[in-house]
Amino acid sequence: MPYELAPLPYAHDALEPFIDTETMHLHHDKHHQAYVNNLNAALEKHPELAAKPIDDLIRDLASVPAEIQGAVRNNGGGHSNHTAFWALMGKPGTDGVGGNPTGAIAAHITADFGDFETFKKTFNDAGLKQFGSGWAWVIFVDGKLKVVSTPNQDSPLTQGHFPVLGNDVWEHAYYLKYQNLRAKYLESWWNVINWHEVNRRFAIAKG
Ligand SMILES: [Fe+2]
Repeated sequence: MPYELAPLPYAHDALEPFIDTETMHLHHDKHHQAYVNNLNAALEKHPELAAKPIDDLIRDLASVPAEIQGAVRNNGGGHSNHTAFWALMGKPGTDGVGGNPTGAIAAHITADFGDFETFKKTFNDAGLKQFGSGWAWVIFVDGKLKVVSTPNQDSPLTQGHFPVLGNDVWEHAYYLKYQNLRAKYLESWWNVINWHEVNRRFAIAKG
């Protein structure tokens, strides 16, 4: 069974005005679809790998045959990362979206970073300093939240870390609305973060 692109968990215009409708159409319907198509093409001769949940495939990247490992790293990573990303956002103004963190993650942010503003600044800096395309992430290591970044579509899963949250800093995520102003996009993105989903992922990351 090949991998499939799930519909967005909200309408394409749900994240307005912070993420525009056209960006969501291109980003989900075109870019994410291309990762899925390319992943399926790479796995044509390895149907047993295509049976794995996408996160397991990326977690076990080392076991993927060498001749397709690069394609799986990029396109499987793209599928895993974007699947997480869509769920990590929601319609601004709805319950648990934007504003201050809620639940277990709120207390951990305060404990590990001092306050939410410092946490946001640390995360935004990681996204801003990621040269070229990539992702900013929060992972949970040795009982603490940690901000990291990865290039391209590399996932923390491959390094053994379940991402608690992540933001896409590829230009395709923001260029139409923010042009070259990645910092402005990063700042604006906190208006659409879905804290319910962050807390759900945090519970998994804690194990
Ligand atoms: Fe993306």
